[in-house]
Amino acid sequence: MYARPITDDITWVGAIDWERRLFDELIPVPDGTSYNAYLVRGADRTALIDSVDPSYVDTLRSRIASTGIDRLDYIVSQHAEQDHSGSLPRLLLDHPEAKVLVTDKGKRVLSDHLGVTADRMQGVKDGERVDLGGLTLEFLHFPWVHWPETMLTWLPERRILFTCDLFGSHLASGDLFAHGDPAVLLAAKRYYAEIMMPFRGTISKHLGKVTARAPAMIAPSHGPIYEAPSLILDAYQDWVDGPPHDTVVVAYVSMHDSTHQMVEHLVESCARRGLRAEQYSLADTDAGKLAMLLVDAATLVLGTPTVLGGPHPKVAYAATLANLIRPKATTLAVIGSFGWGGKVVEQLTAMTPNLEVEVLPPVLCKGVPKTADFDALDRLAEQIARRHDALRAPP
Ligand code: FEO
Repeated sequence: MYARPITDDITWVGAIDWERRLFDELIPVPDGTSYNAYLVRGADRTALIDSVDPSYVDTLRSRIASTGIDRLDYIVSQHAEQDHSGSLPRLLLDHPEAKVLVTDKGKRVLSDHLGVTADRMQGVKDGERVDLGGLTLEFLHFPWVHWPETMLTWLPERRILFTCDLFGSHLASGDLFAHGDPAVLLAAKRYYAEIMMPFRGTISKHLGKVTARAPAMIAPSHGPIYEAPSLILDAYQDWVDGPPHDTVVVAYVSMHDSTHQMVEHLVESCARRGLRAEQYSLADTDAGKLAMLLVDAATLVLGTPTVLGGPHPKVAYAATLANLIRPKATTLAVIGSFGWGGKVVEQLTAMTPNLEVEVLPPVLCKGVPKTADFDALDRLAEQIARRHDALRAPP
């Protein structure tokens, strides 16, 4: 294993996880991921920024060894989650001289989860600087992006911002840099949707601290490095602070085609009104794909058959997911078919208290949809279109 140079004094010593397909036993990562760790060598001291998932600790150790360093003075723990800090216990055995630089909240998490002892940790305040000799590490506390102990590291002499999870992407790539590749941005959007979107409000408050520094490079701890940061910064400005887009996501399950017929009709009816509507079957849910669709959508429609008096469990899962990731959608509707009654609307709206949405009147039909039901779906499309009027780009 060898270390890959970023500048003369900064090298990448991380790991690429080509095979991983699930994160936290929940989040699909169809393109694998990487755990980026960066070795920063000043004239007097050397620091490692983040480590890797413990399953790759030997890869990290091998890359560090290839640099020929004889001591490691600091290990910066920007985020205590195991995919970045899980290798700390082993590294601290390798490098008895090393101190872990971490927020005070991070000290408690590293102690609770990884057994790192207090004598090996040194708390750093927001804005505190550590001199490596010609290179400086400045720590920026970014609590709740996405854990409470999170911080970023600014290296002013090179204008590089190390951002850990923020601006990351679950993407295994042979290229260290993004090079403006649209595939990287798509992976970053999936990552944002899955990990960062619930913290949109907090990120919004912190984004100015990033743009004010005008970084020349953004180096996250997952996925490629942005050597032209405007690509990811512009995207985040839109995802985090931009208005919802003029799109309708219709997420549904159909057991005997009735709900499917309703979904097809509604999507067509929306399209006739100039709306961009997309249907998404939840039969084999890729939670990440659904989350991505919800980054921009102004309207979410849940389509469900009635199962034992409530929504189909896969639709209930989608509602629960939407509630957790708190998309910026402003309108919600429920459509579907039932056999003899039920409470799908009451149950689905009760599952989504975090959504700040207007709930439109539902369209529920008994058995297969009939003319009156399709007419009701046309009226729903019209109501959605009226709520999107303010989002339409001028002709
Ligand atoms: Fe990549 Fe929150 O850990």
